Amino acid sequence: MTVAGAASGATSGEAFGVDIGGTGIKGAVVDTAAGTLVTERKRIPTPQPATPDAVADVVAQLVSDAGWTGPVGATFPAVIKHGVARSAANVDPTWIGTDADKVFTEAIDRLTSAGPGAARRSDVTVLNDADAAGIAEDRFGAAKGVSGVVLMLTFGTGIGSALLIDGVLVPNTELGHLELNGYDAETRAAASVRDEHGMSYRHWAKRVNAYMQHVERLFTPDLFVVGGGVSKKAEKWVPLLELNTPVEPAQLLNDAGIVGAAIAAVEWLGE
Ligand code: BGC
Repeated sequence: MTVAGAASGATSGEAFGVDIGGTGIKGAVVDTAAGTLVTERKRIPTPQPATPDAVADVVAQLVSDAGWTGPVGATFPAVIKHGVARSAANVDPTWIGTDADKVFTEAIDRLTSAGPGAARRSDVTVLNDADAAGIAEDRFGAAKGVSGVVLMLTFGTGIGSALLIDGVLVPNTELGHLELNGYDAETRAAASVRDEHGMSYRHWAKRVNAYMQHVERLFTPDLFVVGGGVSKKAEKWVPLLELNTPVEPAQLLNDAGIVGAAIAAVEWLGE
């Protein structure tokens, strides 16, 4: 599955984007040609435990509250192969093997068949969260107009990755799970590790630097884009990195997942 870049034709149309995170599920209608939200972003806390059915009900609620009847895209923090979750590093293990596309689509249909919009049907496209952010940054953010190999890394609860080549996404790269000094890299260098251990940015940046040098050796990208909440404080740690590759902080911040998911919904519809 690939997503063509801006170079191969701009997308048009609107879609509803949903960003599913560990603490909140956010959604809005997106103008995918402009990369902007056309309705206010709404957030509902992630249900605990975050089982497929419980999360699907929240996704359906967001879509229904917006009165949306068109395509829906949703991010999910796991490997998503043709709509099916194939990993669960930081999410409820019952997701593995779940057809997220189908569960979300059915939840939306259920909710709307009980209500006034009975005739509608919203097909849902689910993709990895970092992949969605990477698509959004490539089209409208820090990697806009950059040709060659762009690697987006998101530092949050885990480490997510999106690999794009001239705007075309190679999905599910999962570079956060590279082995680093005998450890799963995200257990050493995710932003959550800094928070949990009260680490200084300087201390944490050393770990991020070792990790990114490793990634750099493997991929020799033209550009790194660093995202996740910690990219809002990029000035505290990005200048400490010693890499040969330029590093740009993400620009779409809170909206990257929603925008990227909506783009995927428009471009992957029917796959
Ligand atoms: C997951 C990835 C996800 C990343 C960021 C990792 O633990 O394996 O699929 O993109 O966290 O949420």
